[in-house]
Amino acid sequence: MTAATATTAETFRPALHYAARNTWLNDPNGLIFHDGVYHLYYQNNPLDNVWGNMSWGHATSPDLLTWTEHPVAIACDEEEDIFSGSIVFDRDNSSGFGTDSAPALVAVYTSAFKQGSAHPGIQAQSLAYSRDGGYTWTKHTANPVLNRGSAEFRDPKVIWYDGAAGSYWVMVAVEATDFQVVLYKSYDLSSWELLSTFGPANATGGVWECPDLFTLPVDGDPGNLKWVLTVNLNPGGPNSGSAGQYFVGDFDGTTFTSATTVTEGPQDPDRLGEYQWLDWGRDYYAAVSFSDAPENRRLMIAWMNNWEYANHIPTSPWRSPMTLAREISLHTVGGNPRLVQKAAGDFASLAGLARTFSLMDTEISDGTHILDGAAGTVQRIDVTLTCGSATEFGLIVRGDGDQGTRIGIRHLDGALIVDRRNSGQTDFHEAFASIDSAPLQAANGSYELTIYVDHCSVEIFAQGGQVTMTELIFPAPGSSDLAVYASGGTATINSLHVTQYS
Ligand code: FRU
Repeated sequence: MTAATATTAETFRPALHYAARNTWLNDPNGLIFHDGVYHLYYQNNPLDNVWGNMSWGHATSPDLLTWTEHPVAIACDEEEDIFSGSIVFDRDNSSGFGTDSAPALVAVYTSAFKQGSAHPGIQAQSLAYSRDGGYTWTKHTANPVLNRGSAEFRDPKVIWYDGAAGSYWVMVAVEATDFQVVLYKSYDLSSWELLSTFGPANATGGVWECPDLFTLPVDGDPGNLKWVLTVNLNPGGPNSGSAGQYFVGDFDGTTFTSATTVTEGPQDPDRLGEYQWLDWGRDYYAAVSFSDAPENRRLMIAWMNNWEYANHIPTSPWRSPMTLAREISLHTVGGNPRLVQKAAGDFASLAGLARTFSLMDTEISDGTHILDGAAGTVQRIDVTLTCGSATEFGLIVRGDGDQGTRIGIRHLDGALIVDRRNSGQTDFHEAFASIDSAPLQAANGSYELTIYVDHCSVEIFAQGGQVTMTELIFPAPGSSDLAVYASGGTATINSLHVTQYS
């Protein structure tokens, strides 16, 4: 590689998001906060920057913003690829992998058995343990511990259930092509008993993968806990390709009962917009939450890519970033329980780097207006806009007067749009250039957006995080203008505040 191409490729390396140093990654795995450190394991090809040789890579962070890469944690071998899964801190040494005074971390992962192995073509659940706080791992000799003889049984997420029915480990995993979450119970992480199944329900436009199950208080009331079941699916997302949906309901220790199911069985394509999505953008997949996050926070990270074009995005030597870590909470919106999200990282720790730009109470006339002094390539934008006579209005980020990514409101359609058709490099795959939308209602005629712009992405939290859209973009390095625009009339910026991180 010449110095020139190296420089160009590295211009996309995110500043606020994790990406591996020089390899491929997909799903976040085994997210856990332990001994004061956030551990992010992930589907990793240690040998290349396309999918393959699936192993668990590893990074740690003190603040969810700055990450340190470590050696591969659990490596594939001749027998198996190491597919997605989770990690628990086995406090009571139920597995016997640690000791009472020094309990182990236990990883529960999918063994994707290779041809020529003892279980050719089978996906089954296996264990590995760490006695040094998550840095080195040993595979259990009696793997797999849960084998249904299925070729599509994967992505175990294990939680500790402590409720009316007792205290035990619960695993949620998927029978991917049946659009089903399967729930199991164990007292020792080795021996598993089937509890129940959930699905098909709501979106079934693609295989179900990477489920999660957790409680959240409704509107912050600790006396009113609801259970949330998240399920990623690929393809079948609201704007095409990979995405994640969620259900809110109850779990009695055996069965998850959804209160937000719109359709059971195969999805109704006309009702896709009524299903509950973790994110409406094209690049938010395989989202799962941390175990043992401090202060009971529910923190999620997703893979910021889409299987439609994942192996082709124009970055090297690395490929695929993670999203920002998000704190999710449950609020009553229009009488219904809905997830609300915000970026969780310790942005205040970056404050020393930051420069700011502000604008108040300014009318936007028809056209595009570059904001002098607001240009940047890594920025957080907090903006409140009120509609006027324009049919569409909003911001253009990472612009240069020619290219740019449009983030807009179509007030009469009740829609938030992201238009990345002219965002920079788009021709590396036919499915990439897109204009995507999410339903968004005004609050008293106004829209509040928080947007994180990085070297290859935009993440939008709208109306206090009730609606989110996450998309990759690959702008020219010099495309750093921030503009506001209105089409066919006017709009008003009530307030605009830009924090620059580069
Ligand atoms: C989701 C997924 C998982 C699987 C892993 C393999 O992106 O397909 O279902 O465990 O990736 O890398």
